[in-house]
Amino acid sequence: MKETVRVLIPEDKVDERIAQLGAQISQDYVGRQVHLIGILKGSIFFICELAKRITVPVTMDFMSVSSYGSGTKSSGVVKLIKDLDEPINGKEVVVVEDIIDSGRTLSYLLKNLSDRHPASIRLCTLLDKPERREVDVEVDYQGFRIPDEFVVGYGLDYDQRYRNLPYIGVLSLTEE
Ligand code: IMP
Ligand code: MG
Repeated sequence: MKETVRVLIPEDKVDERIAQLGAQISQDYVGRQVHLIGILKGSIFFICELAKRITVPVTMDFMSVSSYGSGTKSSGVVKLIKDLDEPINGKEVVVVEDIIDSGRTLSYLLKNLSDRHPASIRLCTLLDKPERREVDVEVDYQGFRIPDEFVVGYGLDYDQRYRNLPYIGVLSLTEE
């Protein structure tokens, strides 16, 4: 199969939107400290840029999960690969994700994290594919709504590749 990537959201637009999200979070958390939780590996590029744009004190931690599913669909059965390093009780948590698709991974994660008694918990995603939603999740900060297409870049992968593209692109597979 031949893989081609078409630009969906160029680098300058992604950076501009992340700066806006950072400004919004900075405003919403004035006088408080934000604890960003990045979901590995997809959110790494996003969380780095976002954190640089937040002007209130920031701490960060990371979690890695894998969802068992057939092919491109996640089943909602989530396996914890790497847990947080620190407890989150009493912290103002913002979960940072690359994309919300069915919502199953996030719904598991939000429940898991809420059980640890943070002071508050909000969700920030770079991309959202609302058409694909199977489980309701409340999104507090959203970068872009995108159509139901498979995207790569800015942390998002296909078979672990393309994460390093500085833009968001749509991947298509064609017979060679
Ligand atoms: P959900 O449980 O279906 O919401 O799964 C979300 C996860 O699936 C994301 O964190 C991504 O890792 C992956 N994913 C969903 N859509 C895409 C896509 O278009 N490109 C790359 N990864 C995706
Ligand atoms: Mg992910």
